[in-house]
Amino acid sequence: MTNSPINTPSSPSFASTHLIYEGKAKKIFEIPGEPHHVLMEFKDSLTAFNAQKKGSFESKGVINRDIAALIFKELAAQGVPSHFIENIGERGMKAQKVEIIPLEVVVRNILAGSTAKKMGREEGEKLARPLVEFYYKKDELNDPFVSDDQIIIFQIAEAQTLVDLKRLALEINTVLIQLFQSIGIELVDFKVEFGRTQAGELLLADEITPDCCRLWDLKTGEKMDKDRFRRDLGGVDQYYQEVLKRLLKRGGLA
Ligand code: TMP
Ligand code: ASP
Repeated sequence: MTNSPINTPSSPSFASTHLIYEGKAKKIFEIPGEPHHVLMEFKDSLTAFNAQKKGSFESKGVINRDIAALIFKELAAQGVPSHFIENIGERGMKAQKVEIIPLEVVVRNILAGSTAKKMGREEGEKLARPLVEFYYKKDELNDPFVSDDQIIIFQIAEAQTLVDLKRLALEINTVLIQLFQSIGIELVDFKVEFGRTQAGELLLADEITPDCCRLWDLKTGEKMDKDRFRRDLGGVDQYYQEVLKRLLKRGGLA
């Protein structure tokens, strides 16, 4: 399957949608007559290290759309709202239109990746409590780490927003730890983004998929996320598919 168009028999009205933005893994379209909503199309492309490394696999967008939707539904069921409205076609998702806060909010339960490197410690160390970190979303600066004071003084977000972001990120972490544990996966860390609706509501936005989480198989320790691509471990598509398969098998999800 190639990057199939968003227009499917179930969504004929999207034939005339306009592209608002194209990111590394998604396209965002406006929806005629629905000014407060957008349509996200999940692409098959896969990038790492600020798009210095590029790849793709067939149906990646379809798999990630399904994973993201199941996770958003579980979060909603546990009282954490997001921009998710409904799935459209095989790789589309209707969502609330939000203005993205330019912060990548990372939560770590187990030390890995950039923070393991920065601290000069081994990956795999369980942290005393979840660690929340903020990175300034600016490709040309390579998304640098920013402190709470830097966020406020450089007016990336207000102090109260920062408090809300931390609280929401930790709530999301609690729900996701449980969810993944129930399907035999350890949630090592993840990145989320938030946005505000025109009415001012702060919502979880973007996506939660194996692209932006570290997921380790509880039994074997195998990596089931984008590190397979970043680190050339192979089998990226099988592991993404396996995450979806387990989420679907778990049931209890709408
Ligand atoms: P890091 O260890 O490279 O800082 O990544 C922490 C988590 O955030 C990991 O689950 C991958 C995710 N992440 C993104 O989704 N996008 C990014 O641009 C980066 C750097 C990390
Ligand atoms: N998501 C970033 C990129 O697409 C970095 C990463 O995940 O490694 O380049």
